[in-house]
Amino acid sequence: MCATSHDSWGGTVNKFARTAVGAASVVVLTAALGACGGDDDGGGGSDSKTIALLLPETKTTRYEAFDKPLFEAKVKELCDDCEVKYLNADQDSAKQQQQAESAITDGAAVLVFDPVDGEAAAGAVKSAQSSDVPVIAYDRFMEGADYYMSFDNEKVGQLQGEALVEATGGSGNILMLNGSPTDPNAAQFKKGAHSAIDASGLKVVAEYDNPDWSPDNAQKFVTSQLNNVDGASLAGVYAANDGQAGGVIAALRADGMTTFPPVTGQDAELAAIQRIVAGDQFMTIYKSIKTEAEKAAEVAVAIVNGDDVGDTTDFQGVDSFIFEPAVVTKDNIKDTVIADEFYTVEDICTPEYADACAAAGLS
Ligand code: GAL
Repeated sequence: MCATSHDSWGGTVNKFARTAVGAASVVVLTAALGACGGDDDGGGGSDSKTIALLLPETKTTRYEAFDKPLFEAKVKELCDDCEVKYLNADQDSAKQQQQAESAITDGAAVLVFDPVDGEAAAGAVKSAQSSDVPVIAYDRFMEGADYYMSFDNEKVGQLQGEALVEATGGSGNILMLNGSPTDPNAAQFKKGAHSAIDASGLKVVAEYDNPDWSPDNAQKFVTSQLNNVDGASLAGVYAANDGQAGGVIAALRADGMTTFPPVTGQDAELAAIQRIVAGDQFMTIYKSIKTEAEKAAEVAVAIVNGDDVGDTTDFQGVDSFIFEPAVVTKDNIKDTVIADEFYTVEDICTPEYADACAAAGLS
């Protein structure tokens, strides 16, 4: 007997009625032809419970260390017969378009899509939807997506900017390193950061939109700036994420500095939390990836099962789930990443950081 996945779709109101109807007619047709399975019908196979997870890169640690495993675990918990197909684009937008196309052709029932390039991905969104495969824009916005989930990204930038203004006393020269120009989040982080920095007495002496968010590029940019600017005269450095903050600090260290002006970050990467404990980085932004990845899993499973996805909020015309970011400094590591079990004290306080941890009240 052919297994079908939509015993309950008829009784549930959700916006994928169009998908369910499309899928139902495929089932009727394949049943009439005496064929089972729909995975080769050009996408959105009628009995497919394959969820494609498309992530953008691997240099930022969050994707492979948190997003992927947390998403997979939640799908497994919620749905016995669902399968996750994981695809990482290694920061290559063209590769990601191909990954999306092949996921659709291979019969994925839904795409959970974190685009390398939000605009370039619009074509893949359309092509998925024309195969009745809904798209969840994951962490980064894509126009026309069926759902979107992320943090309040302008607020992320604003919190970073405000923290830098406070830590510097609001005057002096700073460098600014923003995220990748193709990442829609990067523009929001930048806007939020500028709202705080531009209203202060801080002067941005050089600003860089870093292709690919590359930590190496960040290091090279700061190294080249140190030809014009004396590192010791910098009041601070705005780095949009922890990967770049690491590159910034490496450049300052290579220039002979041993103590650093306030440097911002984002993602609460383990290395960044250790730099914060050691006093090398001033702050990061903690975003509960567990909340985000598990919500994505819940929505994806609801879609493949034809269930309701729950309450959403509108973000630029897309039904969305928006979460709150939190500032992490040396003073609140315990109340944020440790309280939330993102890391244990043992994770952070390796022998190299034992003294700094003790001084920060962490051991
Ligand atoms: C952003 C994301 C950040 C960070 C960055 C670099 O879109 O929200 O958490 O990972 O990309 O990949």
